[in-house]
Amino acid sequence: MKILVIGGGGREHALVWKLRQSASVEKIWCAPGNGGIANEAECVPLDLKDVKAAADLAAKLGADLTIVGPELPLTLGIADEFAKRGLPLLGPERKAAQLEGSKIFSKQFMERHFIPTADVYGICDSPVEAHAALDWAEWPLVIKADGLCAGKGVLVTSSSEEATAFIERVMEKREFGDAGTRVMLEEALVGEELSYIILTDGKNFIRMAPARDHKRAFDNDEGPNTGGMGVYSIDDILPAELEKTIIRTIVQPTLDGLREEGMPYRGFLYFGLMLTADGPKVLEYNCRLGDPETEAVLPRADFDLAQACMQAALGDLSAVEAKWFPGASVCVVIASKGYPADPQTGVPIHGLEEAAKVPGAVVFHAGTRREGGVCYTNGGRVLVVTAMGEDLSAARRVAYEAASRIKIEGAHYRKDIGAKAAKGHAAV
Ligand code: AMP
Ligand code: GLY
Repeated sequence: MKILVIGGGGREHALVWKLRQSASVEKIWCAPGNGGIANEAECVPLDLKDVKAAADLAAKLGADLTIVGPELPLTLGIADEFAKRGLPLLGPERKAAQLEGSKIFSKQFMERHFIPTADVYGICDSPVEAHAALDWAEWPLVIKADGLCAGKGVLVTSSSEEATAFIERVMEKREFGDAGTRVMLEEALVGEELSYIILTDGKNFIRMAPARDHKRAFDNDEGPNTGGMGVYSIDDILPAELEKTIIRTIVQPTLDGLREEGMPYRGFLYFGLMLTADGPKVLEYNCRLGDPETEAVLPRADFDLAQACMQAALGDLSAVEAKWFPGASVCVVIASKGYPADPQTGVPIHGLEEAAKVPGAVVFHAGTRREGGVCYTNGGRVLVVTAMGEDLSAARRVAYEAASRIKIEGAHYRKDIGAKAAKGHAAV
């Protein structure tokens, strides 16, 4: 199998790394890739907004399968373009990708199919409406920009000043461009979060190992929301009864709803869940693998991922079984100075070789660029350091040992990824 992976972040690095372990894979390209992916796959330039160029590239390379990592090309219709040209691709078509591309679309979809989610206080087309909605909403509340904002378009707050300022930034100053044309105000849910990700052919599905992301920038869940600062994966966070409830009340109605509405779905589908006292509720859908969930989850995969992806793309996952290594994995994101508000790029990265010497650690590149043998930062999230262990404490020790060997001026990472859960999780 010759595979083209679209994207150039930590998720795509982990994908390429895992696909390379598959006996059925002969060649991997990654477009555009990054400074670390270049060590494991042939990187090819690509503008992620140009879905026609992506199809031209897949055709020219003769890829047997294209796997799309990020949401942007999916929401721009990369799957529709490939389908039109008879090129095999894993990822949903544009219409279904709106589950991620528009938070208002996804909320209305959930309401139509009685899928548990936060109650809505208002869907606002103008700043005047949004400011007015603040008067009667219950606090704390959540404000979400409708469109794609790389995880940064959400505010959870109890402060009306903060809410007012956020509406100004999103709707008036258009900090996220057209993504802020509309906003949605909703109930703040309370509980632990869970990233439940499936690979589906539209009907059958396999699920990824359960994962928990840490969205806030700083330790103890302080600071602004980010795309994700670190993840741990252990089976304890998904007891069998909880999983049954998630499948019955959320996954199944979602897949049925997509089919009923003429949006058959082939690809990864991510359910961002809040485990509330009233049961699991959907915070968001993503039409792709999570980042950095993928970097923690794929090292635990004990099955042929390339085959599974191909079967999902072909529309028949029924014979595929996903097996997962026991124990734990954890990944820690090393972010640039100023991330998420104003990340500094172009800073040299030192210590990659020293980090790679830590047994059991893998360093995935997220935002890096290689020039003359030196790696430089090239984005907000720079590196993702992953480790597996027999339990969470062991995995954390290895990941943090490797992370401590990496030196990037001004960079920061959270020291508490998986810390709370590690206390209650020990190998038996
Ligand atoms: P989203 O992009 O919708 O997942 O939002 C990003 C993060 O904001 C989530 O992972 C949660 O941490 C938080 N969040 C989103 N919606 C809510 C909600 N209704 N209640 C509480 N927290 C939320
Ligand atoms: N880590 C959350 C996401 O991929 O959106």
